[in-house]
Amino acid sequence: MNWMNAEETLRRAEAPLFWVGAFTVASLALWLLYRLLSGFRIWVLGNGQLLSPKLGKWAVVTGATDGIGKSYAEELARRGFAMMLISRSQDKLDGVARTLKEQFKVKTRTIAVDFGKTDIYNKIEAGLAGLEIGVLVNNVGVSYPYPEYYLQIPDLDDFITNMINVNITSVCQSLNLPCLFLRSKGVILNISSASGMYPVPLLTAYSSTKAFVDFFSRGLHEEYRRQGIIIQSVLPFFVVTKMTRIKKPTLDKPTPERYVAAELATVGLQGQTNGYFPHAVMGWLTTKLVPMKLVIFFGHIYDCKKGKLFYIFVK
Ligand SMILES: NC(=O)c1ccc[n+]([C@@H]2O[C@H](COP(=O)([O-])OP(=O)(O)OC[C@H]3O[C@@H](n4cnc5c(N)ncnc54)[C@H](OP(=O)(O)O)[C@@H]3O)[C@@H](O)[C@H]2O)c1
Repeated sequence: MNWMNAEETLRRAEAPLFWVGAFTVASLALWLLYRLLSGFRIWVLGNGQLLSPKLGKWAVVTGATDGIGKSYAEELARRGFAMMLISRSQDKLDGVARTLKEQFKVKTRTIAVDFGKTDIYNKIEAGLAGLEIGVLVNNVGVSYPYPEYYLQIPDLDDFITNMINVNITSVCQSLNLPCLFLRSKGVILNISSASGMYPVPLLTAYSSTKAFVDFFSRGLHEEYRRQGIIIQSVLPFFVVTKMTRIKKPTLDKPTPERYVAAELATVGLQGQTNGYFPHAVMGWLTTKLVPMKLVIFFGHIYDCKKGKLFYIFVK
């Protein structure tokens, strides 16, 4: 009798279970299709045409004399923006400005300031006054010369003050510039780092400043997007630049030119981006697939090795 009851119950449950299963499979298939289509939209079609001088005649790039910043300056000049270059050394600024003028026939201006100082923003504001700014790239940033335990960093006080001023204050203060929000149209790219996606031991201060930039950008994007301002948080993994001391580009460590060309196609499609398809895969693996504890643990081991190698070969 009991056996008969169980069979009857199972038969009755068959139809509802079938629909639960069908609904689950359909939801998963739709989710997968959505992910594939949005991946195709971002990484294959891209949004390359959004960044044009229609947003405003001028583009401003901080840290524009080397690496990723220089590549942003070149790519934006190639698209016809007049370029305002802001960096530390006037000689290097003049060199980049001259190249952009000759190569892309665009207007250029420069402001030489040390972002490690905090009394520079009146000078920047005066230099930008009256310009119709369509794009701002907050790129300037400093990292550690080599991975190190926090309390063993030489001149810790100065090191931390400089890092906070360059990596954080520069971004916050730039958002204060009145000229940016006057026309309700424009794009601000804040260059954070994949190191800001989780704590990176032995680069802890750098990683924390970059996490700030990421949170700050994503919050502000939501505050201002309805006013026509896009604020994008950009989180690259390794790129071949002076900062990383990587010399040879590979698929996962692109040249800055390659990285920037890919990144600019994501503007308007992603508020937070790793900017380059292989980096997006790495970002997905390290945040969604691998438990964060493991990422932090292996980050520590990797940076310990890098720190030791630096002591042996460079110091
Ligand atoms: N490269 C990577 O793998 C990577 C990965 C993730 C995130 N990022 C981020 O991307 C941004 C650019 O990095 P990068 O690798 O291109 O760096 P980089 O090659 O070292 O270039 C940094 C640029 O910033 C300028 N700069 C540095 N300190 C300055 C200061 N105190 N005042 C004014 N200008 C200063 C430099 O000018 P000088 O030439 O005069 O020093 C140079 O133009 C940074 O925010 C970095 O954190 C880089």
